Amino acid sequence: MSVLKNDLLLKALRGETVERPPVWMMRQAGRYLPDYIRLREQYDFFTRCQTPELATAITLQPVDQVGVDAAIIFSDILVIPQAMGMEVQMEEGKGPLLPKTIRTQADIDALISTGVEESLKYVCDAITMTQKELNGRVPLIGFAGAPWTILCYMVEGRGSKTWDKAKQFAYTEPALTQQLLDKITQITIGYLKAQVKAGADTVQVFDSWAGSLSPADFRKFAQPYLFRIAEALQPEVPVILFPKGSWYALKDISESAAAGVGIDWCISPRVARELTGNKITIQGNFDPAKLLAPIPEIKRSVKEMIDEFGPQRYIANLGHGITPNVPVDNARAFVDAVKEYSI
Ligand code: CP3
Repeated sequence: MSVLKNDLLLKALRGETVERPPVWMMRQAGRYLPDYIRLREQYDFFTRCQTPELATAITLQPVDQVGVDAAIIFSDILVIPQAMGMEVQMEEGKGPLLPKTIRTQADIDALISTGVEESLKYVCDAITMTQKELNGRVPLIGFAGAPWTILCYMVEGRGSKTWDKAKQFAYTEPALTQQLLDKITQITIGYLKAQVKAGADTVQVFDSWAGSLSPADFRKFAQPYLFRIAEALQPEVPVILFPKGSWYALKDISESAAAGVGIDWCISPRVARELTGNKITIQGNFDPAKLLAPIPEIKRSVKEMIDEFGPQRYIANLGHGITPNVPVDNARAFVDAVKEYSI
């Protein structure tokens, strides 16, 4: 593999001193980029994911056009339920739909738990191809959904504000829930290790719906599985955990095998630092909707955010994914503001 010319992200994750914080944006590949929207007219969502040439081209777009310090492989967290044998439809503008949901022991037994690495080989091929194209410009991030978030989609069958069906399953069938979470965890570890073997420099685990759980239920249904993944991957690459909304778990996370933790905008940088005691690199936490503010306001807020976190052991990012309505110039202003920050 080629030597990295820009290794700010990896340095920040290792806790090394950087000349400025690295910056990337969750969900940076896609939706708001005109070149992506054009590709969307030609190929359906999973064709884009499953064709390494397309996934590579989409992964590179924000590196070339917005100037981020890291690439994240274009794929989706729902390729795991798909590889486990579930039907996943991606309805344009509506989000994911899994018509046959998980409810019973028989449903769990019917899930495929072997050969998942082979069926997801297309992601690894895209990673290897992207690394070749990047040629060391910036590190490449691999990713997967966290077991709780994947369970949410498997049981609920679609996105939800409350995740009440997923939570009903967890609260009424705790043994089945644990079985399902175990199965997803085991597969996710194998999948992320395959991504590392294919060339991913670091991996992020997205627990997008962790915040639907109370602190006690997070500790039961989410945290143990996140930590198992971090422990399994940490000897190979730095691991970033993103349990959105779970600010109360920051102290425990800072003492886990994870190198980095993503936080959303509902916690202040100072409180996040206090809870983690500088034992872990923090990533975040710009409100994605603030990218719709006038550019001078974006730049001012970014500087304030970095001042609050401090520039070391820090990765500038959003507190959740970039939304489709963000003008490319505003995304670029966010990235530029971090690059212009002087220590
Ligand atoms: O970060 C990146 O740019 C890499 C690619 C990536 C996608 N999905 C591509 C995608 C990543 C990292 C994801 C993760 C993902 N997928 C998450 C976790 C992150 C988060 O935002 O919370 C979740 C919950 C999903 C599930 C998912 N996939 C939903 C809810 C949707 C529909 C709504 C949406 O976000 O657009 C998708 C579809 C999807 N995945 C799109 C993209 C670019 C949009 C499809 C399209 O418009 O072409």
